[in-house]
Amino acid sequence: MHLKKENILIVDDDIHILELLQRHLQSWNYHTYKAVSVKEAVTILRDTSIDLLITDLKMPEIDGFELIKFVSEHYPNLPKLVVTGYPSVQDSLSAIKSGVVEYLTKPFTKEELGKAIEKSFNLKKTATTSLPTATILKDKSYGDIIGHSEKIKDVIQVIERVKDNKATIFIKGESGTGKELIARAIHYQGKFSRAPFIAVNCGGIPENLLESELFGYTKGAFTGAEKNREGFFQAANGGTIFLDEIGNASTAVQSRLLRVLQEKEVVKVGSQKAEKIDVRIIAATNSDLKDMIKKETFREDLYYRLTVVEIDIAPLRERKEDIPLLIEKFLFKYGVEYKDRFVQITPEASVILQRYNWPGNIRELENVIQRAVIMCDKIIEVEHLPDSLKFNIDFPDDELVSLKEMEKRYIQKVLATTNNNKTKAAEILGIDRKTIRQKLSE
Ligand SMILES: Nc1ncnc2c1ncn2[C@@H]1O[C@H](COP(=O)(O)OP(=O)(O)OP(=O)(O)O)[C@@H](O)[C@H]1O
Ligand SMILES: [Mg+2]
Repeated sequence: MHLKKENILIVDDDIHILELLQRHLQSWNYHTYKAVSVKEAVTILRDTSIDLLITDLKMPEIDGFELIKFVSEHYPNLPKLVVTGYPSVQDSLSAIKSGVVEYLTKPFTKEELGKAIEKSFNLKKTATTSLPTATILKDKSYGDIIGHSEKIKDVIQVIERVKDNKATIFIKGESGTGKELIARAIHYQGKFSRAPFIAVNCGGIPENLLESELFGYTKGAFTGAEKNREGFFQAANGGTIFLDEIGNASTAVQSRLLRVLQEKEVVKVGSQKAEKIDVRIIAATNSDLKDMIKKETFREDLYYRLTVVEIDIAPLRERKEDIPLLIEKFLFKYGVEYKDRFVQITPEASVILQRYNWPGNIRELENVIQRAVIMCDKIIEVEHLPDSLKFNIDFPDDELVSLKEMEKRYIQKVLATTNNNKTKAAEILGIDRKTIRQKLSE
């Protein structure tokens, strides 16, 4: 029996079935993950790289249909095997347009299970090899990356081109735009996905430690270095190292990095010996490296080595058409996490989210929805959104108005949002009720 390393997630509310499946799978050397509910399954999917989903359909709270829908949307390449006691269910499954699904009817023998698993993996192969990039792009997500704007499609196209080779990649973008998400997608969608992905926040490690953390050190290299130690680069060998906030790397680290890029070798701190290394480097920053080069705090030669392939990820305000999809994703994610059910949003609240400029980008949107899900009952309404969003005025770009006109519109907007409650409106506006009345009569 050859060693299989695929990760299989089994979802069933019946512990006995879970254990039976696990025993069989383990006897074939698969890694297994168990979940007794859709909620648990979603958490595992989020944190782990799963290769096959085996799920029951009838489960309390959220059922297997919803899980299949979710997986088809968010993990379109993940093969699915449904284990069901109801053979007639096949029709309803195809009705939800969930893509390719394999079935196994209870009760089943070990042999039948083995065959169904084999078939599921094969379905995936035919599905992915026959899918040209164009078809993938028609979808609204790519791995965990959600979006159908031209800007996101361009990014996905670059990912498709680089994921199976080891070209050095540079990701540029404002905070919260998804730089790390993209780095992970490049690694996990590509053919080196079984090798390690190591993320290093160059800004989060004290400057004097970064060098030895990255490249390792030899015994006696500095006080406290009691034995030889590998660095992140050695740990990532064969896979990907993600150097986040690269602008924070000291000049010493920068020259060692240059050597890694030029010679494909690392030298531990305190050593002369070079070790061959085969790592894809992805660097990211939200600071202006060109400016740092001018100020001579970042090496120009390193900059050109790092930017072999550049991915410039646009801020959310430049791809607002992605907002509704992102809202849907986060509603599902946090609905399942906090409320055990799907949370909805009123059209009014949704419009406010789509109008806002999102200086903190997707991370800010995610936080706002997370908070609103916690605050609401079943439906997110305008009142569950932070004030800064509710009262954000957004005039069309080409409309320039006087201060007086702007004040009038803003007061009207606050009044509308507070259902004409003048006391509340006055509080928000930071003026008293009398002043509101006065301004309105003007
Ligand atoms: N296109 C997207 N689809 C779905 N989720 C996204 C997308 N872009 C970003 N996110 C989510 O937004 C959050 C922020 O993303 P990420 O950490 O990758 O941003 P970042 O650019 O690295 O930010 P920072 O510069 O602050 O480190 C994460 O939870 C990520 O999953
Ligand atoms: Mg980041």
